[in-house]
Amino acid sequence: MQIDVFTLFPHWFDWFRGQRHVANALALGSQLHCVDYRVHTPLRAGQVDDTPFGGGAGMVLRVDVVEAALRARYGDDPVTVRERRRVIALTPGGRVLDDSWVEQLAAQAELTLLCGRYEGFDERILDHFCSDRLSIGRYVIAGGELAAMVVCDAVLRKLPGALGHEDSAHEESYSAALDGAPEYPHYTRPAEWRGWTVPDVLLSGHHARIRAWRAQQSRERAERSGGASLP
Ligand code: ADE
Repeated sequence: MQIDVFTLFPHWFDWFRGQRHVANALALGSQLHCVDYRVHTPLRAGQVDDTPFGGGAGMVLRVDVVEAALRARYGDDPVTVRERRRVIALTPGGRVLDDSWVEQLAAQAELTLLCGRYEGFDERILDHFCSDRLSIGRYVIAGGELAAMVVCDAVLRKLPGALGHEDSAHEESYSAALDGAPEYPHYTRPAEWRGWTVPDVLLSGHHARIRAWRAQQSRERAERSGGASLP
């Protein structure tokens, strides 16, 4: 998989590239490339943003700057880029990311992520250059970079070999294997600590009963969280 991240802070991703499952995915052939809006801006003094028409606080990422960066990377008119690869804007008002969307993104050969900063994007960037608007949750963070890392983390760990253990991304919270429910509880040694014990069934060695117990726990967790994670 080939992921391009458009950002004002490409060096933030140096740390991210070193994280084990990301490093594994990259070693297995995936690529994570950053494009710095500032390097490609047609404006003077590295300007990338401007004050909003109509007034208001903050600065807005300019459409001409984003167009220049997309053109520099893809070589043609950015309005056509979204026809051949998903171009996703990270924005708090977008569709909230969930496991099934992550699965879909992990099946793409190429992805483009656009990070916003300050007050966000000039709306024409979203309307004309992007195929999707993605939010990592209904709260606002200072820019799209951490959101882009969340997307890359969630997507890259789905790729074969990224986790080192093939099953670990299969039966986990919100996966189809658990019918979209949260994962069941885990325990490890010691079997007793300060009088806190591990459920007997997990020590029984009885695989069918363990499976049934885990499925039941997972369902109960879904119900306790208001059923919000069930389809
Ligand atoms: N940029 C700022 N807040 C965001 C969020 N919640 N999701 C995606 N991008 C963002």
